[in-house]
Amino acid sequence: MIRPMPALCLLLLAAAAAASGQQASLPYLKRNGAVTQLMVVDEPFLMLAGELHNSSASSVAYMEPIWPKLAALHLNTAIGTVSWELLEPQEGRFDFTLADAQIQAARKHNLRLILIWFGTWKNAGSSYAPMWVNKDPKRFPLDDTASGKRASFMGIPFDRALSPLGEATVVADAKAFRMLMRHIRQVDPQHTVIMMQVENETGILGDSRDHSPLANAAWAKPVPAELLRYLESNKANLLPEVSHVWGAHGFRGSGTWAEVFGSDEWADQIFQAWHIGRFVERVIEAGKAELNLPMYVNAWLGPQPGATKPGQWPSGGPVSGMMDIWRAAAPKVDLFAPDIYVADFQGVCGEYTRSGNPLFIPEARASAPNLFWAVGRHAALGYSPFGIEDLKEDHPLGGAYAVLGNLAPVLAKYQAEGKVAVVVEGAERQTKVTLGGYRMNVRFGGLRSFFAPAGSSEKQKDLPPAPVDGSPPQPEQDKRSYGLIVATGPDEFLIVGSGLVITFEEDAHIGTVDEGRFEKGKWIAGRRLNGDESFSGVFVAVSEKAVESRRVTVYRRE
Ligand code: DGJ
Repeated sequence: MIRPMPALCLLLLAAAAAASGQQASLPYLKRNGAVTQLMVVDEPFLMLAGELHNSSASSVAYMEPIWPKLAALHLNTAIGTVSWELLEPQEGRFDFTLADAQIQAARKHNLRLILIWFGTWKNAGSSYAPMWVNKDPKRFPLDDTASGKRASFMGIPFDRALSPLGEATVVADAKAFRMLMRHIRQVDPQHTVIMMQVENETGILGDSRDHSPLANAAWAKPVPAELLRYLESNKANLLPEVSHVWGAHGFRGSGTWAEVFGSDEWADQIFQAWHIGRFVERVIEAGKAELNLPMYVNAWLGPQPGATKPGQWPSGGPVSGMMDIWRAAAPKVDLFAPDIYVADFQGVCGEYTRSGNPLFIPEARASAPNLFWAVGRHAALGYSPFGIEDLKEDHPLGGAYAVLGNLAPVLAKYQAEGKVAVVVEGAERQTKVTLGGYRMNVRFGGLRSFFAPAGSSEKQKDLPPAPVDGSPPQPEQDKRSYGLIVATGPDEFLIVGSGLVITFEEDAHIGTVDEGRFEKGKWIAGRRLNGDESFSGVFVAVSEKAVESRRVTVYRRE
């Protein structure tokens, strides 16, 4: 039975909420010109975020010194957690203390909050389901591999997870999530909580699909008509990962899973994605019925180096190749989010923005160049290193967050107009950008690059690859040069970045270069840079020691 909150308690919470903020309009996603933006209080909001370690938010005292640190790092959003085991430790008895503590602390430190619902899945396992669930596999059935063997990590086998086909499981998970969302609606009229992550890195490890008796029975049945209808009506726009598997079996419009998709691990992955997607859809539906916040699901990536087949990554999770199946199964999911620990950050961003998926990166290693790439190239809704409390307060990401936070309103406008370019140092020492009718040459490494002999750059070209998702963030700093170039008007540019030297090509000349900074979207000018500071109007440079901003005008002679 659900234990109702005492009426007085509710009244006091509502009164406190009303005192600290009016009922604000709900956060929502909105298409604005060339991009999709997250709207918070009806304004575009760029989430400069960080995700806490899994267990941090389970102790209010442990979190106390962390909150000010997040503010000092210039975050505007924290990703916290609410676990099913602590929310509903006994069936029907709910405890919202930890959610409330996070909401209040976030407000105090001027942060918005995303909460992760650690429900049935956490990294392909079910360790956050309450004990009363995990103890009772008759009522809450477990998944299984065909061989009965589990995937292992450093020789230790992972425990079996709850099966996505357990009816009692989805009912219980959805009920708990509904109670959480109801509570947030009651205590958070100003929407400190702007988004929810539902479950965490779903999927099955060690096999490409669930082989429990329940799942085997579902596998022998016809593919659900809703899925086939979705595939038929989106046939021309399906991503290749699904189109290829379906097409290899003749794009059949009916049949069992094996008849329609085949019987290998790729067919299994589709089956598993469908069933997990259906499960998650019911959880989201229950939550949104109480409070219609944007909700996303995150993925442990695959394929990735060292994991080439489903089951080597959590099969059925929302990897980019399964977005079509997830869209069919879970239309209430607002976006699919990659946890990026692989070296090819830019490649993953590209895969996840296919077919219109807005980009949000809830987990990654802290890298200002990657932040700029996600925001500049893909108008990402936000970026969030994992284990944010590990960062020192002078980490370069904090400086990048401070600059981007103040630039965000300006950026949102020009992104919508398609007037933003991004550069991030790669294998080459320079690159070319065409924007606003001008061609620019961008040199990486800052002014030092002119004087250092070729190949002697001390810059680290890229972060070393992490072996698999699940490994802790690496301490190295990403020292590549990077920046945004914004065409702010005819013959006018804004350059924001680190370690760049920009020259204009052909018959274009630099008119003026001003240093300065944005404060809440307003330009505060500093020195006029001429003479030695711009090689008398030949280049625009931003130091590699900080994130700097320049306003530049350019002209062509009549
Ligand atoms: C990915 C998971 O989603 C996180 O909860 C955490 O376990 C990290 N991996 C650890 O690197």
